[in-house]
Amino acid sequence: MSARPLATTTRCAPTRRALFAAPLALAACRRDAVAQSSLADPAPLKSRVPFPVGTCAMTGQLDDPRWVRLATTHFSQLTPEWEMKMEYILSDDGSYRFQAPDRLATFCATNGMRLHGHALIWFSQGVKAFAGLDQARFAAAYDHYIATVAGRYRGRVASWDVVNEAIAEDGNGLRDCHWSRALGQDGYMIRAFEQAKLADPGAVLFLNDYNLENNPRKGATFLRTVERLLRAGAPIGGIGTQSHLDIDIPAGQTAAFMRDAAAFGLPIHVSELDASLNSERRLDTRSPGQKLARQQARVTELAQAFSDLPAAQRFAFTVWGIRDTDSWLRRGERDDGRDSPLLFNAAGRPNPMFGALADGFQS
Ligand code: XIL
Repeated sequence: MSARPLATTTRCAPTRRALFAAPLALAACRRDAVAQSSLADPAPLKSRVPFPVGTCAMTGQLDDPRWVRLATTHFSQLTPEWEMKMEYILSDDGSYRFQAPDRLATFCATNGMRLHGHALIWFSQGVKAFAGLDQARFAAAYDHYIATVAGRYRGRVASWDVVNEAIAEDGNGLRDCHWSRALGQDGYMIRAFEQAKLADPGAVLFLNDYNLENNPRKGATFLRTVERLLRAGAPIGGIGTQSHLDIDIPAGQTAAFMRDAAAFGLPIHVSELDASLNSERRLDTRSPGQKLARQQARVTELAQAFSDLPAAQRFAFTVWGIRDTDSWLRRGERDDGRDSPLLFNAAGRPNPMFGALADGFQS
């Protein structure tokens, strides 16, 4: 057998080890490729769970085919991010506009998605439009707004955040606002729920707030408020926890709030989940991996706590945006160009948070 050139011999004659290892390496490559492809295009979230999975939406996103594909693939419910709020609908001169919420409602109907109305009454909105009205006209205008907006979407929304963010920032009592000053601290909330019920008897009516998991004092104040309003006859039909999670809260705190909220027996809406990697701490020396691990742990805990609810209480699980770059946390001065608070990255690929959510839903 003639001597073959060393270079050729070394390069081309496989050793016994290589022959044995090759199929294993090939299989590993194939597994990795499958894993990557499944990560790149994971099974739809909405097909993994028996309850609606939602996200927020703005009409500008309806013109982005990538956003539309992700939204219609993974989600079964939409919440208008801001275009169904008083700040969009009611002008300072008292006129109404509905183009944007109408378009979002049509998108949902066309795509078989449920629409969650957000939000009828919010402490900071409507100040100019309601300024200078005497008590009677203020109350009449208040009732008229709720009747007009909730009435317009009767049969097109499944639910409303009737009152949003009524609890004081620090959890010490209720916010003072122009609604409470005119109609009473509990009075404006009871009135809003009563008016919404009259306008759309079929909608599930939510009291919605934030930091309820992050701040146990605020969560407790919120639940005491729900109890007090229910006793006063307010037709509250559901509890909305926004869940803008602080990834540095202790393990168990999120599940504890969910358990306390579940005690009312009402439907619960995780209404605005995001989990910023940016800490409130001035100096955060943790690695990105350490922060991601905390984010995943908190998101899994929330998803598991929600999944553990009785079926009748699992109203919907909504994330506040699809891609990191869709997040309100990635806009304006908040944007550090790096935060990854949502399920998908800017390219529409699943973030680790996607897996954390799926794990929580499955466990
Ligand atoms: C935010 C939106 O994401 C922004 O686009 C808008 O400019 C301000 O409001 N709690 C709420 C949401 O109930 O409506 C807020 O959404 C985030 C905090």
